[in-house]
Amino acid sequence: MESAIPAHLQCPRTRQRRVADDYVPPYPSFVARHAPGVTQVVMAYFGVQHLDDAVAADAALRDLAASFACEGGPAHWDRSRYTDEAGYTNVICAAYWDDPARFDAWFAAQGAKWTREQRAGVGTFIELVRPDVRRYETLFSAPDRPEGIATLAAGMSDMVTEHAYWGGARDRIPASQTDAMQPAGAPRLVRDGGRVTVRPHENLCLIRSGQDWGDTQADERAMYQRDVEPVLRAGMDFLRDEGLSIGCFANRYLSVETADGHGIEKSYGMSWWRSLDALERWAESHPTHVAIFGAAMKYLSTLGPAAKLKLYHEVTVAHADEQFFEYLNCHDRSGMLRAA
Ligand code: HEM
Repeated sequence: MESAIPAHLQCPRTRQRRVADDYVPPYPSFVARHAPGVTQVVMAYFGVQHLDDAVAADAALRDLAASFACEGGPAHWDRSRYTDEAGYTNVICAAYWDDPARFDAWFAAQGAKWTREQRAGVGTFIELVRPDVRRYETLFSAPDRPEGIATLAAGMSDMVTEHAYWGGARDRIPASQTDAMQPAGAPRLVRDGGRVTVRPHENLCLIRSGQDWGDTQADERAMYQRDVEPVLRAGMDFLRDEGLSIGCFANRYLSVETADGHGIEKSYGMSWWRSLDALERWAESHPTHVAIFGAAMKYLSTLGPAAKLKLYHEVTVAHADEQFFEYLNCHDRSGMLRAA
């Protein structure tokens, strides 16, 4: 058992963990460990949306994949889709770098044009954060299946202490040792024709929370599909439709697919929040998450590492200067456009 915060990021605390020093979690979980030389990463969501022009969207996605393959492109990316509340199909490629200078060079040469060059029939958007490694955490129910930013890590930790209690996510973020990470200000939109950028606020929060049921069989699969997934979907619908009132600017419940668009048995919820506080309040109080949290706790405590359902998440709290949002020809309920 070890701390989720790696030794080189531990520092004298001014803020205490939620649990006592002798706390032992009821089931194992693991976190991604970057090489100590990694100090900042980039998590970038490149999206295309359309109502009825799949041909134009596919062409855009092919161009995007080609740009990812260019010098300095992401070390890892994955592709997913969902239909939003306005009825638009959105396909999102989530791309990851662990070298911001490499990202900047790639972005100037390849990435920026995604929301700079008009494409008939589709809207495009970029939502990205580039957090210092002290400003995010990861959590995995199994150590052998990295996803998201963890695909760039040097490896996984041993079992970690800080999980399976409310407040665990905060306690895994190294900055929480000394910083309450409270929000300041509010996002504002800047329009330039069809292009809208977001002036960010301090300590915006992002979660990507993923589910992989590809290895489950029989009872476990039925349990996930019958008991868990519908409740998860209800929670995701709530955040999409009513999230603004509780500080959730935008929520998407995405189905993961291959690079050429074939569905696979993975999904993730991703959402932008006014603050980590607001996300924590939803997680610990909304009946849908409380129910799936309880079901998962029971199930993971019983099955432990034998569970075939894989769960993971990554939670980031970003400074204002670690955020970038740009939308070109997107409808006005898209992503962070709802925030202002
Ligand atoms: C099938 C889907 C899901 C299941 C079974 C599930 C279950 C759980 C469990 C068991 C934990 C505690 C993990 C630990 O510390 O060991 C947890 C934490 C958390 N979950 Fe979920 N969850 C799911 C989906 C989601 C989604 C989609 C979101 C938000 C978009 C979310 C938000 C959170 C947050 C913020 C925490 C951390 C709470 C804290 O540390 O205070 N979860 N979830």
